[in-house]
Amino acid sequence: MCGIIAYAGHRPAVPVVLEGLRRLEYRGYDSAGVAWQMRGQLHIARASGKLQSLEDKLASMPAITATCAMGHTRWATHGAPVERNAHPHLSNDSGLAIVHNGIIENYRELRENLEKMGYRFYSETDTEVLINLVSEYVKSGLDVLPAFAKALKQAHGAYAVCMLSKDEPGVIYAARMSAPLIFGKGVGENFIASDIPAFLPWTREVVFLEDGQIVCASANEYSVYELDRLSLAAAPVRKIQWDMQAAQKDGFKHFMLKEIFEQPRVIRDGMTGRVQGEKVVLPELDKLPVPERLHIVACGTSYHSGLWARYLLEPWAGIACDVEIASEFRYRDMVLGEREMAVFISQSGETADTLAALRKAKAVGVPAIGLCNVVGSSIAREADAALFTQAGPEISVASTKAMSSQMLALALMAIYWGQRKGSLKADAEAALLAQLADLPALLDDNLPEMRKRAKELAQKYAQARNFFYIGRGFCWPLALEGALKLKELSYIHAEGYAGGELKHGPIALIDASLPTFALAPEDALFPKIKSNIEEIEARAGRVIALVNPGSDVSATDVWAVPALPASVAGFLILPALQLFSYEVADYLGNDVDQPRNLAKSVTVE
Ligand code: G6P
Repeated sequence: MCGIIAYAGHRPAVPVVLEGLRRLEYRGYDSAGVAWQMRGQLHIARASGKLQSLEDKLASMPAITATCAMGHTRWATHGAPVERNAHPHLSNDSGLAIVHNGIIENYRELRENLEKMGYRFYSETDTEVLINLVSEYVKSGLDVLPAFAKALKQAHGAYAVCMLSKDEPGVIYAARMSAPLIFGKGVGENFIASDIPAFLPWTREVVFLEDGQIVCASANEYSVYELDRLSLAAAPVRKIQWDMQAAQKDGFKHFMLKEIFEQPRVIRDGMTGRVQGEKVVLPELDKLPVPERLHIVACGTSYHSGLWARYLLEPWAGIACDVEIASEFRYRDMVLGEREMAVFISQSGETADTLAALRKAKAVGVPAIGLCNVVGSSIAREADAALFTQAGPEISVASTKAMSSQMLALALMAIYWGQRKGSLKADAEAALLAQLADLPALLDDNLPEMRKRAKELAQKYAQARNFFYIGRGFCWPLALEGALKLKELSYIHAEGYAGGELKHGPIALIDASLPTFALAPEDALFPKIKSNIEEIEARAGRVIALVNPGSDVSATDVWAVPALPASVAGFLILPALQLFSYEVADYLGNDVDQPRNLAKSVTVE
């Protein structure tokens, strides 16, 4: 997730911007840059790697006395994490500079038009297209503000942008559309940033910009406009009481909770640019054939995403799927057939077992797809094709939003291959895409209520020493993930089972001291899981049943979440499980973000 900070005021601006970037480092980045105005010119400095490389570069330049500047940390999504793709970008005439967070979906088309007019592009970014479009409108006679607005109206997608013009010293322009951007109101100085911590040392007065708003700010003035008609917008100033740590957590008590609540955005971002009309576009996979058999290989939570995705890949794409733990796959003697392919799922892209499994697949001639969150990670680099989940940095050790982002990417892959193979009918595809598109709003509406229910149940069950999680079909991998989250965070022993397997042993353990968390949404297997719940209750076992409203399941505790088609219900059930584990761990006073003995990225065998 990119970070933006801009400053107009009375202090030397570049050090303020660098400090702001340092405070945004927690978001993750792979290159950084700054732009400043001095002596009627715009100047930029950029470097790949850490902020120190940028600072070293700046230190070798003549003294910078600018009092207006902007900076950017880039988390690469499109285009390699190299200096030419780092922000800021300049317009061809060096009259404008821009930093950008987000994706301009129609940039190829805009770029082609500009190329026809003679514009040249020096990076692979969509950002450079946008700044030249603004420049074109300025050249055609518009003032900077209307030119900026006109270009933004043509850009489809999600963005937060800041812009400087060589002809307007001390003025920053910025705009947001589905990407965070906050204005900081100081005394004789003003700030714009992706996140409050960036300017917290200097001001606590903020304006939360809304989608479709533009702000124009100098040291002593600012105005917020509606992009549509450039009419002035109401911009209430709020006072932030948080300390630095809390600000990085957006006011949430823990990173884990923040990341659980980010899932609606993660799903929205994961679809941006990949769903065009009623089609899924995954150019990363175009050069590979459609596999006949797929091996999905991963560890931990990522493995559970793979297990879940099998329930989509087989029916939608008609591809036979094996899902395997990487530490087993890497040492197994396999029999391989024609047209096999492997997908390696890893949030970090660095997990040693998954990386070794990828190398093994490649060594035996199986094409490897890496599905990672971290751009530039080893798995992404070594794979024949890399797909990024675009979840943004996940800081809590226990993985949450990464799993939703993997599930979404895998669902899109299933639709994409279904399209290519012709195994998915156009109306079915349109219905699936519509269901996915509805998820972010549904999650936004339901997460706060779900958290309340999770808290009530957590307090009731936190003293358990053991737990079962059961589910069937799509809900079986989710039961495994629910049990993993509880183990990781609360240190309560938990086992996930396919409901049908209960009678083959585990049921011997059931008594009043061993509660079961049963996933019982009303899907095709509902009658089966209902019988499993009855079997447990008949043996005095306590059951928390996650059901849909109006369900006739009888259980010790019922937790109703909205009914959804089985293929997408997991996107709602998963956060319920995450919230329950989170609340148990918090109730027990555990270190939620850094549970004992666990590492975020396991780079050793
Ligand atoms: C560690 C983490 C888990 C994660 C697993 C796989 O064990 O604690 O949360 O699921 O590694 O990580 P990866 O980065 O490969 O998805």
